[in-house]
Amino acid sequence: MLLAGKNALITGAARGIGAAMVEAFAAEGANVWALARSQSDAFENALGDMETRYGVWLKPLYADLTDPAAVTAAIRLAMADKLPLDILVNNAGIMAADKPFQLTAIAEMESIFRVNFFGAMQLTQLATRWMARKGRGAVINLASIAGQNGGSRLDYSASKAAIISATKTLARELAPQGIRVNALAPGFIQTDMTQALGDKVTQDTLARTLLGRIGKTHEVAAVAAFLASDRAAYVTAQVWNVDGGML
Ligand code: NAI
Repeated sequence: MLLAGKNALITGAARGIGAAMVEAFAAEGANVWALARSQSDAFENALGDMETRYGVWLKPLYADLTDPAAVTAAIRLAMADKLPLDILVNNAGIMAADKPFQLTAIAEMESIFRVNFFGAMQLTQLATRWMARKGRGAVINLASIAGQNGGSRLDYSASKAAIISATKTLARELAPQGIRVNALAPGFIQTDMTQALGDKVTQDTLARTLLGRIGKTHEVAAVAAFLASDRAAYVTAQVWNVDGGML
């Protein structure tokens, strides 16, 4: 198993790519603090089922990433388990409203950055201090092809470009502490986020995807599990596209 005995913290864990990551990591032997925005019995029951299936522990944590006090409290709760943290996956993110740049208020842009960038950065600060105690760790940030090529929504694309830049800068700063930092750039993956984009965007995107189909959440999770594992011990500061070949 790729992640036997590792402890991971994954955000946005209740649905979409994050939920697939919790399952993929558990199947590979990792224990997971699964962070969701708000409490839900369905989420906790799903974690309980996977614990039984995979023989690992999966603990729910709750925090809205726009609330710094809640993020700190969630990390403190996880640290109270007195275990090392090996892996952080900054997966939670939000899509911007479908509006042209000239009609988008700066406050709306800030609200996208608050989740996609600052929430992830606060968590990364706290988590990497925790990892540094053991002198090892792996951080995976969810970027997007929109962060590389630009996209239809400036605030979303710019927040993901900021994540890519942070990934490379942090990889440099944290390498001496034994912490690798990489990003994943998914293309078009079937989740609630892309469902909301509508048929035209879906068809246009598929037309420029070499594999000619939408990606599945488990296909992103599989690459994350590899990058988080010791098999990728010599990989840092990279952006891995999981996009079916978008040229
Ligand atoms: P999703 O919309 O299905 O799930 C996003 C998750 O983030 C949800 O669990 C939600 O509760 C959580 N979240 C949002 N705001 C939060 C907040 N303030 N505090 C705590 N949690 C919050 O999205 P999906 O598709 O699973 O995306 C996951 C990541 O992958 C995101 O960062 C997204 O930008 C990125 N991505 C997704 C692509 C896709 O095609 N689905 C393509 C490229 C990147």
